[in-house]
Amino acid sequence: MLVLGIETSCDETGVALYHTKQGLLSHALHSQTQMHGEYGGVVPELASRDHIRRVLPLIRQTFSAAGLRLRDLDAIAYTQGPGLAGALLVGASIASALGFALEIPVLGVHHLEGHLLSPLLSSPAPAFPFVALLVSGGHTQLMEVNGLGQYKLLGETVDDAAGEAFDKTAKLLGLGYPGGPALSRLAEEFSMAGKPRRFELPRPMLHSGNFNFSFSGLKTAVLTLVNKHEMTQETRGAIALAFQEAVVDVLTEKSLGALAKTGLTQLVVAGGVGANRQLRASLSLRAEKMGATVFYPELEFCTDNGAMIAFAGAMRLQSLENLDQNLDKTFTVKA
Ligand code: KG4
Ligand code: ZN
Repeated sequence: MLVLGIETSCDETGVALYHTKQGLLSHALHSQTQMHGEYGGVVPELASRDHIRRVLPLIRQTFSAAGLRLRDLDAIAYTQGPGLAGALLVGASIASALGFALEIPVLGVHHLEGHLLSPLLSSPAPAFPFVALLVSGGHTQLMEVNGLGQYKLLGETVDDAAGEAFDKTAKLLGLGYPGGPALSRLAEEFSMAGKPRRFELPRPMLHSGNFNFSFSGLKTAVLTLVNKHEMTQETRGAIALAFQEAVVDVLTEKSLGALAKTGLTQLVVAGGVGANRQLRASLSLRAEKMGATVFYPELEFCTDNGAMIAFAGAMRLQSLENLDQNLDKTFTVKA
């Protein structure tokens, strides 16, 4: 079965072709971050308009890279939500129109399920059951994943998501948008320079006795430091490192705690913050010590992309009994 995946939930237009026997055949992405950078954050109206401009050329590019034609398609999967309404509508409309014209099934995929299953695109891939740490710009959740659609929420953030905290802290340090990767680079530079650590930030909810997180206090702690010190490049680096270490410590401890509690030995990390190198190093090191294995998506599939949507859609289409599940309840989506 050949599935076209379309992702347009936020500021990335992602398209991919996934074949259930041959795997991922081709994928293409256009990131709007530069366009939104000027405004310090995503402007929903601009995002929708850019998806409209990009999506058809990207679909053409994906088919031509795979040497395939539209009529080879068996199904289309698109991101149904959560996300920006206007942006989502672009993907939904294109998918529905193509599906209607080609007379093939069209399936709406939950964006977070796409992230959650994205490590299964890599080799070696984890097998069910596993614990998943979902760390994106909008979510921070620990889930027990027992099979397709069998997700049990173990804990989640009570305020900011980890990626949101990275982005807001980066803004406080004057690093532009989206700040997560820039903050992480700055922290790495400071750490590699071998300078002594200057700041220690709190580890929120580390000993809360559950698997919930809280990151909004860290941002306030950073603001206090920013107001107290002259913002030289070195001070920025020292704060970035202190912030990153605090977030990484909490994410690591809670993830290992979830492995211990469930008795599972595989941890899957998904979502944009999963690209963070310090987080990867910390999780892999600690997990190995307890005999567990950590699986990550390829770096290009950590952030939003079409491949994860094509893949999740293909899995769902192969398992029709799960089609009607309302995942908004599982992932506790508020909007
Ligand atoms: O999964 P994603 O692309 O979008 C959502 O669905 O939210 O995640 C984007 C988030 C942003 O907050 C971005 O700053 C963060 O992931 N991010 C990182 C890194 N790369 C992306 N945060 C920390 N370190 C990184 N290397
Ligand atoms: Zn995402």
